[in-house]
Amino acid sequence: MSSSLFDLLWMAARRRVLVLLGATIALSPPPAAAGDFHHWVQFAAEGLQARAVTKSGACPKAAIDGRETAMTARAQADDLFPVTICTLDIPKGAKSAAIDGRPLALPPPRPNKILVVGDTGCRLKGLFLQDCNSPGSWPFPLVADVAAKLAPDLVVHVGDYYYRESACPLLRQGCAGSPHGDNWASWEADFFDPAGALLHSAPWVFVRGNHETCERGGRGWTRALDPHPFPADGRCPPQDRPFAVDLGGPTLVVLDVTTAEDRVANLEQAQFFKTQLSTAGAIPGPVWYAFHKPIFSSIRISGKETVGDNKTLAEAARDGLPANVEAILSGHLHAFQAASYVEDYPAQFVVGNGGDTLDPYTPAKFDGLVINGLTVERGRSTAPIFGFATFERGDGEWLVTDYDVQGKPLLRCHLRGRKVECE
Ligand SMILES: [Fe+2]
Repeated sequence: MSSSLFDLLWMAARRRVLVLLGATIALSPPPAAAGDFHHWVQFAAEGLQARAVTKSGACPKAAIDGRETAMTARAQADDLFPVTICTLDIPKGAKSAAIDGRPLALPPPRPNKILVVGDTGCRLKGLFLQDCNSPGSWPFPLVADVAAKLAPDLVVHVGDYYYRESACPLLRQGCAGSPHGDNWASWEADFFDPAGALLHSAPWVFVRGNHETCERGGRGWTRALDPHPFPADGRCPPQDRPFAVDLGGPTLVVLDVTTAEDRVANLEQAQFFKTQLSTAGAIPGPVWYAFHKPIFSSIRISGKETVGDNKTLAEAARDGLPANVEAILSGHLHAFQAASYVEDYPAQFVVGNGGDTLDPYTPAKFDGLVINGLTVERGRSTAPIFGFATFERGDGEWLVTDYDVQGKPLLRCHLRGRKVECE
């Protein structure tokens, strides 16, 4: 990204907002300069990987435990993505790694602080418009900067990165100059530039959202973030396979549920997702699922119907989920929610408040709400407030905290097994 007048104004705006918010944190370094590159570490299906995006055509130099090694090109440049995506497998037990001399954040053997963020892009779609140039309207750059200062051991993005689908209307200053379409410029503006400090702070797990289906942001997803190898034919895979990340208890199992129909139970899909949701049964020890669409969550009631729950996944989970699944991390609903149920079912967390327009009618407390046959025992949300959440390992429990964009804690909950209690 070049240092244009726009960039300077944008950085000034970020600085001013942080001061106004009373934040005492230091600012993140500026986005990568022209000719520079983005880099990060992610858990992929085949293990830990470093990735880099470069405009130079050649992958940057890397080193593992001080020994020089070569990154390989995952995806070559083309018209829409004039960048090379590079990758490097990081072996288990590696003590250090670097790209072009810049140290990479490797995971501890047992992550104790997991930061969750989701639904982060700036919406430009038809009449649904955010002011991408205004931190008040689209705060993801601030969310990412503040989240990075909490020094997480791991970041989980629960999906929906790409939102700039249509052009900013002429004369609308709030989004003037924004790119649009599933191309590198949009992905850089929606995710890689604003996420910079957080991308460097810890390794990531990327969950696919419905904005990353092949019909929407699938090109960018497949090239840059997909945890699976880049397909030989370069085509976007409509369905990603599950993969697991060992967190030293629990195991995080990542599923792609992006196509699951929300409002009507699609029986053919339900049969497929029933098999996917049984994945955890073969894994010893406790499991958390991470997938984009929550099953039994709701942002409002329309008539007698709950809105926000997923009727297809509910059909798939009708006979329950494997007994070792304790929690589900999702996004999709633009709110923070924590819920556990009267029935023996995993706790559900929703962290979809990272940047896109919030869902305004989510109830703060929804104990007793019946969602598609399941009764909420404890249900809390903090919508409509932008932010992110942390999951911190405690003694026999996880402390879950929802933060606003200033890094101020809004709600604390305790996850014990499948049960949630909020303060
Ligand atoms: Fe979504």
